Amino acid sequence: MMIRALLICVASCLPVVTSKDIINRCVLAKVLYEEDLDGFEGYSLPDWLCLAFIESNFNISKVSENVDGSFDYGIFQINSHFWCNDYHSHSENFCHMDCQELLDPNLLPSIHCAKKIVSGSKGMRNWVGWRLHCSGRPLSYWMTGCRLG
Ligand SMILES: *[C@@H]1O[C@H](CO)[C@@H](O)[C@H](O)[C@H]1NC(C)=O
Repeated sequence: MMIRALLICVASCLPVVTSKDIINRCVLAKVLYEEDLDGFEGYSLPDWLCLAFIESNFNISKVSENVDGSFDYGIFQINSHFWCNDYHSHSENFCHMDCQELLDPNLLPSIHCAKKIVSGSKGMRNWVGWRLHCSGRPLSYWMTGCRLG
């Protein structure tokens, strides 16, 4: 009985535990493509994938605190001081949303807000990580093995 319960758990529990927060790279590419991010404001899908990897390691529930007391939320680590309201500290709330929405597994609020951010004059340079690790580098390998259709 014990063994059987254990086996059932190995089969059904494990994948959930290990991958709940992490979105697969190619699944993410497809979502971004469907939301028209390929070429949006001149940034390609590999730019978006590199950005998401550098910022969150593809962890859609990632939250981190900054030295100034603000927090970064979700796959693109969007900052609460400027873009969303987390009710902890002052926020400009330029994306007009609750920061918790940026942790939504369907990614649509994060994509919506990221579009707003890259539409500004700094584009993707708003993200220091993108500037340091993605900008001006060969990035096409981020799409290796991914099919969009
Ligand atoms: C994803 O981020 C959340 C919140 O920061 C963290 O608790 C969780 O451990 C992370 N998941 C992985 C697989 O790193």
